[in-house]
Amino acid sequence: ASGLNSAIVAAGKLYFGTATETFTLEDVEYATQVSNTADFGQLSPANSMKWQSVQPTQDTFTFDGGDAIADLAEANGQLLRCHTLVWYNQLPTWVSGGGFDNATLIEVMTNHITATVTQWKGKCYAWDVVNEAISDNGDGSFRSNVFLDTIGEAYIPIAFAAAAAADPDAKLYYNDYSIESDSPKATAALNIVKLVQSYGVKIDGIGLQAHFIVGSTPSTEAQVANMEAFAALGVEVGITELDIRTDTPVTASAQTQQAADYASTIDACMQVDACVGITLWDWTDKYSWVPGTFSGEGSALPWDEDLQKKEDVYDAMIAAIGGS
Ligand code: G3I
Repeated sequence: ASGLNSAIVAAGKLYFGTATETFTLEDVEYATQVSNTADFGQLSPANSMKWQSVQPTQDTFTFDGGDAIADLAEANGQLLRCHTLVWYNQLPTWVSGGGFDNATLIEVMTNHITATVTQWKGKCYAWDVVNEAISDNGDGSFRSNVFLDTIGEAYIPIAFAAAAAADPDAKLYYNDYSIESDSPKATAALNIVKLVQSYGVKIDGIGLQAHFIVGSTPSTEAQVANMEAFAALGVEVGITELDIRTDTPVTASAQTQQAADYASTIDACMQVDACVGITLWDWTDKYSWVPGTFSGEGSALPWDEDLQKKEDVYDAMIAAIGGS
Protein backbone atom coordinates (compact mmCIF):
# COMPACT_ATOMS: atom_id res chain seq x y z
CA ALA A 1 0.00 0.00 0.00
CA SER A 2 1.21 3.49 -0.77
CA GLY A 3 0.13 4.92 2.55
CA LEU A 4 -2.92 6.43 4.26
CA ASN A 5 -2.30 9.95 2.98
CA SER A 6 -1.15 8.95 -0.51
CA ALA A 7 -4.22 6.75 -0.90
CA ILE A 8 -6.73 9.31 0.40
CA VAL A 9 -5.25 12.13 -1.72
CA ALA A 10 -5.36 9.86 -4.77
CA ALA A 11 -9.05 9.32 -3.93
CA GLY A 12 -9.65 13.09 -4.01
CA LYS A 13 -9.48 14.09 -0.33
CA LEU A 14 -7.17 16.78 1.01
CA TYR A 15 -5.27 14.84 3.68
CA PHE A 16 -4.89 12.01 6.10
CA GLY A 17 -3.10 13.34 9.18
CA THR A 18 -2.39 13.15 12.87
CA ALA A 19 -2.11 15.25 15.98
CA THR A 20 1.35 15.46 17.46
CA GLU A 21 3.17 17.02 20.39
CA THR A 22 6.39 18.96 20.77
CA PHE A 23 7.88 16.56 23.32
CA THR A 24 7.28 13.48 21.17
CA LEU A 25 9.40 15.03 18.42
CA GLU A 26 12.44 14.35 20.63
CA ASP A 27 11.74 10.66 20.05
CA VAL A 28 13.74 10.27 16.83
CA GLU A 29 11.89 7.21 15.51
CA TYR A 30 8.58 8.94 16.25
CA ALA A 31 9.70 12.16 14.53
CA THR A 32 10.78 10.17 11.48
CA GLN A 33 7.49 8.31 11.15
CA VAL A 34 5.26 11.36 11.81
CA SER A 35 7.10 13.07 8.95
CA ASN A 36 6.30 10.25 6.52
CA THR A 37 3.92 12.00 4.11
CA ALA A 38 2.89 8.68 2.57
CA ASP A 39 0.87 8.20 5.76
CA PHE A 40 0.54 11.73 7.17
CA GLY A 41 -0.10 14.77 4.97
CA GLN A 42 -1.36 16.95 7.84
CA LEU A 43 -0.42 17.74 11.44
CA SER A 44 -2.41 19.17 14.37
CA PRO A 45 -0.72 20.46 17.55
CA ALA A 46 -2.36 18.50 20.38
CA ASN A 47 -1.60 21.16 22.95
CA SER A 48 0.88 23.81 21.91
CA MET A 49 -1.53 26.28 20.29
CA LYS A 50 -4.04 26.24 23.16
CA TRP A 51 -4.62 29.38 25.25
CA GLN A 52 -2.77 27.89 28.23
CA SER A 53 0.31 27.41 26.02
CA VAL A 54 0.09 30.60 23.97
CA GLN A 55 -0.91 33.30 26.48
CA PRO A 56 -0.20 31.85 29.94
CA THR A 57 -0.26 35.27 31.54
CA GLN A 58 -2.08 38.30 30.18
CA ASP A 59 -0.22 39.94 27.29
CA THR A 60 2.66 37.43 27.53
CA PHE A 61 2.71 35.20 24.44
CA THR A 62 4.78 32.04 23.99
CA PHE A 63 4.58 30.69 20.44
CA ASP A 64 7.60 28.36 20.42
CA GLY A 65 5.60 25.16 20.96
CA GLY A 66 3.20 25.95 18.14
CA ASP A 67 6.08 27.13 15.98
CA ALA A 68 7.86 23.78 16.37
CA ILE A 69 4.91 21.91 14.89
CA ALA A 70 4.09 24.57 12.28
CA ASP A 71 7.74 24.53 11.18
CA LEU A 72 7.82 20.71 11.03
CA ALA A 73 4.67 20.64 8.91
CA GLU A 74 6.11 23.30 6.59
CA ALA A 75 9.43 21.43 6.29
CA ASN A 76 7.58 18.21 5.47
CA GLY A 77 5.08 19.85 3.10
CA GLN A 78 2.23 18.80 5.40
CA LEU A 79 -0.98 20.79 5.89
CA LEU A 80 -1.57 22.25 9.36
CA ARG A 81 -4.85 22.19 11.30
CA CYS A 82 -4.50 24.77 14.08
CA HIS A 83 -6.11 23.95 17.43
CA THR A 84 -7.80 25.66 19.35
CA LEU A 85 -8.68 29.28 20.09
CA VAL A 86 -11.69 29.30 22.48
CA TRP A 87 -12.29 26.32 24.77
CA TYR A 88 -13.41 25.88 28.38
CA ASN A 89 -10.41 23.64 29.10
CA GLN A 90 -6.67 24.34 29.33
CA LEU A 91 -7.33 28.03 29.95
CA PRO A 92 -4.84 29.90 32.11
CA THR A 93 -6.27 30.83 35.49
CA TRP A 94 -6.20 34.55 34.66
CA VAL A 95 -8.97 33.75 32.16
CA SER A 96 -10.82 30.81 33.74
CA GLY A 97 -10.93 32.67 37.03
CA GLY A 98 -13.46 35.01 35.45
CA GLY A 99 -14.32 38.31 37.11
CA PHE A 100 -14.50 40.09 33.74
CA ASP A 101 -17.44 42.20 32.64
CA ASN A 102 -18.95 41.53 29.21
CA ALA A 103 -17.01 44.17 27.27
CA THR A 104 -13.69 43.32 28.90
CA LEU A 105 -13.95 39.59 28.22
CA ILE A 106 -14.90 40.28 24.60
CA GLU A 107 -11.72 42.39 24.35
CA VAL A 108 -9.60 39.73 26.09
CA MET A 109 -10.96 36.96 23.85
CA THR A 110 -10.62 39.05 20.68
CA ASN A 111 -7.06 40.05 21.57
CA HIS A 112 -6.11 36.39 22.15
CA ILE A 113 -7.62 35.26 18.88
CA THR A 114 -6.05 38.11 16.91
CA ALA A 115 -2.55 37.59 18.33
CA THR A 116 -2.68 33.79 18.00
CA VAL A 117 -4.14 33.66 14.48
CA THR A 118 -1.72 36.38 13.35
CA GLN A 119 1.26 34.34 14.58
CA TRP A 120 0.43 31.49 12.19
CA LYS A 121 -1.35 33.54 9.51
CA GLY A 122 -1.22 31.83 6.16
CA LYS A 123 0.01 28.55 7.66
CA CYS A 124 -3.23 27.02 8.96
CA TYR A 125 -5.45 25.12 6.55
CA ALA A 126 -8.07 25.44 9.29
CA TRP A 127 -8.53 26.72 12.81
CA ASP A 128 -10.69 25.03 15.42
CA VAL A 129 -12.02 28.44 16.45
CA VAL A 130 -14.42 27.21 19.15
CA ASN A 131 -14.05 23.78 20.73
CA GLU A 132 -16.65 21.80 22.70
CA ALA A 133 -19.20 24.56 23.37
CA ILE A 134 -22.08 22.09 23.81
CA SER A 135 -22.75 20.32 27.11
CA ASP A 136 -23.01 16.58 27.65
CA ASN A 137 -26.38 16.96 29.40
CA GLY A 138 -28.09 15.18 26.50
CA ASP A 139 -30.36 18.14 25.81
CA GLY A 140 -28.11 20.01 23.37
CA SER A 141 -27.65 22.90 25.77
CA PHE A 142 -24.58 25.10 25.69
CA ARG A 143 -21.71 24.08 28.00
CA SER A 144 -21.24 26.53 30.82
CA ASN A 145 -17.89 28.29 30.56
CA VAL A 146 -16.50 31.70 31.37
CA PHE A 147 -17.32 32.97 27.86
CA LEU A 148 -20.94 31.77 27.80
CA ASP A 149 -21.57 32.86 31.36
CA THR A 150 -20.19 36.38 30.77
CA ILE A 151 -20.94 37.16 27.11
CA GLY A 152 -23.73 34.73 26.28
CA GLU A 153 -23.96 32.62 23.11
CA ALA A 154 -22.73 35.62 21.08
CA TYR A 155 -19.18 34.67 22.14
CA ILE A 156 -19.27 32.08 19.39
CA PRO A 157 -19.91 34.37 16.38
CA ILE A 158 -17.68 37.02 17.95
CA ALA A 159 -14.82 34.48 18.10
CA PHE A 160 -15.36 33.44 14.47
CA ALA A 161 -15.44 37.09 13.36
CA ALA A 162 -12.14 37.82 15.12
CA ALA A 163 -10.49 34.77 13.53
CA ALA A 164 -11.79 35.70 10.07
CA ALA A 165 -10.44 39.23 10.44
CA ALA A 166 -6.99 37.94 11.48
CA ASP A 167 -6.62 35.30 8.72
CA PRO A 168 -9.19 35.47 5.92
CA ASP A 169 -7.64 32.42 4.24
CA ALA A 170 -7.94 29.92 7.08
CA LYS A 171 -10.99 27.65 7.14
CA LEU A 172 -12.86 28.35 10.37
CA TYR A 173 -14.26 25.29 12.16
CA TYR A 174 -16.46 24.50 15.11
CA ASN A 175 -15.03 21.30 16.70
CA ASP A 176 -16.71 18.85 19.10
CA TYR A 177 -17.16 15.21 20.09
CA SER A 178 -20.32 13.07 20.20
CA ILE A 179 -21.64 14.98 17.17
CA GLU A 180 -20.69 12.27 14.63
CA SER A 181 -24.22 10.87 14.31
CA ASP A 182 -27.76 12.16 14.89
CA SER A 183 -28.24 13.29 18.50
CA PRO A 184 -29.36 16.38 20.42
CA LYS A 185 -25.69 17.36 20.60
CA ALA A 186 -25.28 17.03 16.81
CA THR A 187 -28.44 19.11 16.35
CA ALA A 188 -26.96 21.74 18.65
CA ALA A 189 -23.84 21.79 16.47
CA LEU A 190 -26.01 22.33 13.39
CA ASN A 191 -27.59 25.22 15.28
CA ILE A 192 -24.15 26.70 16.00
CA VAL A 193 -23.50 26.82 12.26
CA LYS A 194 -26.83 28.61 11.80
CA LEU A 195 -26.08 30.96 14.74
CA VAL A 196 -22.75 32.08 13.25
CA GLN A 197 -24.31 32.40 9.79
CA SER A 198 -27.17 34.47 11.27
CA TYR A 199 -24.59 37.04 12.36
CA GLY A 200 -23.26 37.19 8.80
CA VAL A 201 -19.96 35.77 10.10
CA LYS A 202 -17.69 33.26 8.31
CA ILE A 203 -17.84 29.60 9.36
CA ASP A 204 -16.39 27.04 6.97
CA GLY A 205 -16.43 23.69 8.67
CA ILE A 206 -17.36 21.29 11.43
CA GLY A 207 -14.74 19.19 13.18
CA LEU A 208 -16.08 15.76 14.09
CA GLN A 209 -13.62 14.65 16.75
CA ALA A 210 -14.60 10.96 16.52
CA HIS A 211 -13.20 9.77 19.82
CA PHE A 212 -14.87 6.38 19.49
CA ILE A 213 -15.10 3.14 21.47
CA VAL A 214 -14.55 -0.28 19.86
CA GLY A 215 -17.92 -1.88 19.22
CA SER A 216 -19.82 1.36 19.79
CA THR A 217 -18.69 3.28 16.71
CA PRO A 218 -21.62 4.82 14.79
CA SER A 219 -22.46 2.98 11.57
CA THR A 220 -21.22 4.27 8.23
CA GLU A 221 -24.79 5.17 7.29
CA ALA A 222 -25.34 7.17 10.48
CA GLN A 223 -22.07 9.02 10.03
CA VAL A 224 -22.81 9.73 6.35
CA ALA A 225 -26.27 11.13 7.12
CA ASN A 226 -24.80 13.32 9.83
CA MET A 227 -22.03 14.67 7.60
CA GLU A 228 -24.58 15.40 4.85
CA ALA A 229 -26.72 17.34 7.33
CA PHE A 230 -23.80 19.69 8.01
CA ALA A 231 -22.91 19.88 4.31
CA ALA A 232 -26.50 20.97 3.59
CA LEU A 233 -25.76 24.13 5.60
CA GLY A 234 -22.87 24.93 3.27
CA VAL A 235 -19.97 23.86 5.48
CA GLU A 236 -17.32 21.19 4.98
CA VAL A 237 -16.56 18.55 7.59
CA GLY A 238 -13.37 16.95 8.83
CA ILE A 239 -12.80 13.99 11.11
CA THR A 240 -10.43 15.80 13.44
CA GLU A 241 -9.38 13.60 16.40
CA LEU A 242 -10.02 9.97 15.42
CA ASP A 243 -9.10 7.24 17.85
CA ILE A 244 -11.07 4.11 18.79
CA ARG A 245 -10.34 2.96 22.32
CA THR A 246 -10.86 -0.45 23.89
CA ASP A 247 -10.22 -2.19 27.20
CA THR A 248 -6.55 -3.02 27.71
CA PRO A 249 -4.85 -5.35 27.19
CA VAL A 250 -6.53 -5.55 23.79
CA THR A 251 -7.85 -8.93 22.67
CA ALA A 252 -7.64 -10.30 19.11
CA SER A 253 -11.40 -10.02 18.71
CA ALA A 254 -11.43 -6.44 19.96
CA GLN A 255 -8.70 -5.51 17.48
CA THR A 256 -10.67 -7.16 14.68
CA GLN A 257 -13.69 -5.06 15.67
CA GLN A 258 -11.45 -2.00 15.88
CA ALA A 259 -10.28 -2.56 12.31
CA ALA A 260 -13.93 -2.69 11.22
CA ASP A 261 -14.73 0.47 13.17
CA TYR A 262 -11.84 2.38 11.60
CA ALA A 263 -12.97 1.15 8.18
CA SER A 264 -16.60 2.17 8.67
CA THR A 265 -15.61 5.66 9.82
CA ILE A 266 -13.21 6.17 6.92
CA ASP A 267 -15.83 4.78 4.53
CA ALA A 268 -18.27 7.45 5.73
CA CYS A 269 -15.85 10.25 4.88
CA MET A 270 -15.07 8.68 1.50
CA GLN A 271 -18.80 8.69 0.66
CA VAL A 272 -19.30 12.41 1.42
CA ASP A 273 -17.78 15.03 -0.91
CA ALA A 274 -17.90 17.65 1.88
CA CYS A 275 -15.63 15.51 4.07
CA VAL A 276 -12.18 16.93 3.30
CA GLY A 277 -9.95 14.73 5.40
CA ILE A 278 -9.25 12.59 8.44
CA THR A 279 -6.94 13.27 11.39
CA LEU A 280 -5.89 10.76 14.04
CA TRP A 281 -5.40 12.06 17.57
CA ASP A 282 -1.80 10.95 17.54
CA TRP A 283 -1.01 7.78 15.62
CA THR A 284 0.73 5.55 18.15
CA ASP A 285 -0.45 4.11 21.46
CA LYS A 286 2.89 5.23 22.89
CA TYR A 287 1.64 8.84 23.23
CA SER A 288 -2.16 8.52 23.22
CA TRP A 289 -4.12 10.68 25.66
CA VAL A 290 -6.58 7.80 26.28
CA PRO A 291 -4.92 5.73 29.04
CA GLY A 292 -4.33 8.81 31.18
CA THR A 293 -7.99 9.79 30.93
CA PHE A 294 -9.79 6.46 30.79
CA SER A 295 -7.98 4.06 33.11
CA GLY A 296 -8.02 0.49 31.84
CA GLU A 297 -8.62 1.65 28.28
CA GLY A 298 -6.27 2.38 25.39
CA SER A 299 -4.84 0.60 22.36
CA ALA A 300 -6.86 3.18 20.41
CA LEU A 301 -4.53 3.89 17.48
CA PRO A 302 -3.30 2.08 14.36
CA TRP A 303 0.30 1.91 15.57
CA ASP A 304 1.24 0.22 18.87
CA GLU A 305 3.43 1.33 21.79
CA ASP A 306 6.53 0.25 19.85
CA LEU A 307 5.54 2.39 16.84
CA GLN A 308 4.69 -0.80 14.92
CA LYS A 309 1.64 -0.90 12.63
CA LYS A 310 -1.28 -3.06 13.71
CA GLU A 311 -1.32 -4.65 10.25
CA ASP A 312 -4.97 -5.76 10.38
CA VAL A 313 -6.14 -2.28 11.42
CA TYR A 314 -3.90 -0.48 8.95
CA ASP A 315 -4.86 -2.74 6.04
CA ALA A 316 -8.57 -2.24 6.82
CA MET A 317 -8.03 1.54 6.76
CA ILE A 318 -6.24 1.39 3.40
CA ALA A 319 -9.00 -0.81 1.99
CA ALA A 320 -11.70 1.60 3.21
CA ILE A 321 -9.89 4.50 1.52
CA GLY A 322 -9.89 2.43 -1.64
CA GLY A 323 -6.16 2.09 -1.73
CA SER A 324 -4.46 -1.19 -2.43
O1 G3I B 1 2.27 20.83 30.32
C1 G3I B 1 1.97 20.31 31.62
C2 G3I B 1 3.24 20.01 32.36
O2 G3I B 1 3.93 21.24 32.61
C3 G3I B 1 2.91 19.32 33.68
O3 G3I B 1 4.10 18.97 34.34
C4 G3I B 1 2.09 18.06 33.37
C5 G3I B 1 1.71 17.33 34.63
O4 G3I B 1 0.67 18.05 35.28
O5 G3I B 1 0.87 18.45 32.71
C6 G3I B 1 1.17 19.03 31.45
O6 G3I B 1 -0.04 19.41 30.85
C7 G3I B 1 -0.75 18.31 30.29
C8 G3I B 1 -1.04 18.63 28.83
O7 G3I B 1 -1.87 17.61 28.24
C9 G3I B 1 0.26 18.75 28.01
O8 G3I B 1 0.89 17.48 27.98
C10 G3I B 1 -2.06 18.18 31.06
O9 G3I B 1 -1.77 17.72 32.37
C11 G3I B 1 -2.97 17.18 30.36
O10 G3I B 1 -4.26 17.21 30.95
C12 G3I B 1 -3.14 17.59 28.89
O11 G3I B 1 -3.94 16.60 28.26
C13 G3I B 1 -4.42 17.00 26.97
C14 G3I B 1 -5.95 17.11 27.01
O12 G3I B 1 -6.42 17.47 25.72
C15 G3I B 1 -6.41 18.14 28.02
O13 G3I B 1 -7.82 18.09 28.06
C16 G3I B 1 -4.03 15.94 25.95
O14 G3I B 1 -2.62 15.90 25.83
C17 G3I B 1 -4.66 16.27 24.60
O15 G3I B 1 -4.43 15.20 23.70
C18 G3I B 1 -6.17 16.44 24.77
O16 G3I B 1 -6.71 16.81 23.54
C19 G3I B 1 -8.13 17.10 23.55
C20 G3I B 1 -8.39 18.11 22.44
O17 G3I B 1 -7.60 19.26 22.66
C21 G3I B 1 -9.86 18.45 22.36
N1 G3I B 1 -10.67 17.23 22.19
C22 G3I B 1 -10.44 16.23 23.23
C23 G3I B 1 -8.96 15.84 23.26
C24 G3I B 1 -8.74 14.75 24.29
O18 G3I B 1 -9.00 15.25 25.58
